[in-house]
Amino acid sequence: FLLEFLNSLDHLEAAGHVCFLKDSFSCESSLVVSKLISSENFDAALAIHLYKAGRLLQGSRIPFGVIFGGTDINEDTKCEEKVRNSSFRIFSLTPVVAAGNSCHQSGIVTTPNVSFNWEKCLQSAGIPHDGNSLCYFLLICGLRRVKDPLYLADAFAEWHREDPSVQLIIIGPAVSFFPSFISRADGVHLLKEIPQEDLHAAVKKCFAVVNSSISEGMSAALLEAMDLNVPVLARNIPGNAAIITHQETGLLYSNPEEFVQLSKSLISDPCLQRKIVARAKEYVTKHHSWEHERNAYQNFVLSLH
Ligand SMILES: *[C@@H]1O[C@H](CO)[C@@H](O)[C@H](O)[C@H]1NC(C)=O
Ligand SMILES: *[C@@H]1O[C@H](CO)[C@@H](O)[C@H](O)[C@H]1NC(C)=O
Ligand SMILES: *[C@@H]1O[C@H](CO)[C@@H](O)[C@H](O)[C@H]1NC(C)=O
Repeated sequence: FLLEFLNSLDHLEAAGHVCFLKDSFSCESSLVVSKLISSENFDAALAIHLYKAGRLLQGSRIPFGVIFGGTDINEDTKCEEKVRNSSFRIFSLTPVVAAGNSCHQSGIVTTPNVSFNWEKCLQSAGIPHDGNSLCYFLLICGLRRVKDPLYLADAFAEWHREDPSVQLIIIGPAVSFFPSFISRADGVHLLKEIPQEDLHAAVKKCFAVVNSSISEGMSAALLEAMDLNVPVLARNIPGNAAIITHQETGLLYSNPEEFVQLSKSLISDPCLQRKIVARAKEYVTKHHSWEHERNAYQNFVLSLH
């Protein structure tokens, strides 16, 4: 097998397959890949991400599948046409985008640190904290440079001036990319990355988890928040709309003003909060749990033969 990520490897090895992992960045061309396939005598191949890895397998003589999440296919409409026309198997699962500093894992598993001290964490970062009276929105940045991190900053700062209890915390390794601006936006704070278990505990302390990015792929941060019973507010882009049904499993907004308006209505509607977290949890358990992913991967590989 040829795989791009370590995350799905576990599921396949558990089913008795012998797997060989290859990073698509290290393959210059499909010729290199087809030579590798011949020399190692592989029975089947899997590519994660159509555009990056799938194209290297085009024309391959062994059966292969392409796994992609959410919007991979939207990246390139030409690519979409090729896919529709070609005979390889397509598998839409959650090769989720790493949240915070988590490593890639297949299927959503949340592990909040029970001894995590939220107040202390806020205090050491110079973020206002005041028992339970403040309302925190958390934006979790992954490892990659975030394309549009400050999308909400101005609207949020304006809302904060009107209602000083609302705070937006931007957390993750990528915060180092934009240090200067944030310090001038009222109510918007940066927090450097914390261990995964602490992050999950922090998510539970927040009113909502926010996604403002326009990048492709599925957000593990959102799925994890949904698993942790915390409401999610995400920008209405295909990747987010694929996992969130507006007013059912979360809220989708199209511009910063709508974000503020939806947030206000969520704060004032505990009934909606309860409904959203219950349905979101149900959705993640049913479609993105570790067990679900394991079964799905194993069945997919069997279907290649
Ligand atoms: C896909 O198939 C259609 C109809 O058979 C054809 O017109 C089109 O050129 C093909 N596209 C690609 C990218 O091969
Ligand atoms: C959990 O939090 C405690 C207290 O801050 C810390 O000492 C410990 O290292 C954390 N555990 C993990 C797994 O992050
Ligand atoms: C936001 O969501 C998109 C699409 O789901 C994802 O690719 C991105 O990593 C997320 N970004 C943040 C900062 O949460």
